[in-house]
Amino acid sequence: MAQPLLEARRLTKRFGHVRALQDADFTAYPGEVVALIGDNGAGKSSLVKTLSGTIRPDAGQILVDGSPVELSGPLDARRHGIETVYQDLALAPDLDAAANLHLGRELYRGGLLGRLGVLDHAAMRRSAVTAFAELGVDLQDVGAPVATLSGGQRQSVAVARAVAFANRIIFMDEPTAALGVLQRGRVLDTVRRVRDRGICVVLISHNMPEVLSVADRVEVLRLGRRVARFTAADTTVEELVGAMTGALDAEEAGGAIEGDGTAGAPDADAPRKDGAA
Ligand SMILES: Nc1ncnc2c1ncn2[C@@H]1O[C@H](COP(=O)(O)OP(=O)(O)OP(=O)(O)O)[C@@H](O)[C@H]1O
Ligand SMILES: [Mg+2]
Repeated sequence: MAQPLLEARRLTKRFGHVRALQDADFTAYPGEVVALIGDNGAGKSSLVKTLSGTIRPDAGQILVDGSPVELSGPLDARRHGIETVYQDLALAPDLDAAANLHLGRELYRGGLLGRLGVLDHAAMRRSAVTAFAELGVDLQDVGAPVATLSGGQRQSVAVARAVAFANRIIFMDEPTAALGVLQRGRVLDTVRRVRDRGICVVLISHNMPEVLSVADRVEVLRLGRRVARFTAADTTVEELVGAMTGALDAEEAGGAIEGDGTAGAPDADAPRKDGAA
């Protein structure tokens, strides 16, 4: 297979005594949709936040194009072409949808190299209308503060923003959770279109039929670590659920479950079985 675009190796992140990530691995290739699945609390959002520069891992390595990187923040991640739709959305509630779309990447008119000019609200509005139309989002007023939009509309604004600016990889943390049937379909169409542009989409979803309909590959997290990888075309909802819950073990999985390299790794906190003091 091609060189991974983004790779996590043995990432660990603790919040107090909670281990959100414990030696978590993750791999994303160019031009694929990879679903990241796992039960509530498995560490999916923590992994996404770590790989998009929002939280710093306690240990482990992040590689972009095979080279180790330190992501000092979301802007740094953006410089590597990483965009994120956060589960908790991270929009500016008092700004309108067009301003949110361009947050941190405002358009200016006039001035030297556009730098000293004034904000070009008309241009931002035009590009926002185009971006929302492409997603099939019906906003009666792109000038209304995002706080006044419905949950689903807000989710669509966040997706439109990531899609408009992504150039290598987009993390979408449950982008369809608040959406109705039609809107959900539009977002999944958008995911496919983005993938066809050669961009990698990492999709987090609890909806297994949705995962199997849009993903090329599936990576499974359980208790803060990757426990299985599947090719979407070769697996079933039952198999995915089995891997998520731990019901499916390595012998039944025909090699899809992660090997003993991780499962058997020494855990400092685990009771020792060899009798050593
Ligand atoms: N900021 C935080 N402070 C304390 N604990 C946290 C924090 N963020 C996550 N955790 C804990 O880390 C674990 C993993 O959480 P995470 O949000 O990554 O799970 P998830 O797989 O995204 O779950 P869900 O499917 O419910 O969104 C949980 O036990 C959670 O309580
Ligand atoms: Mg989450």
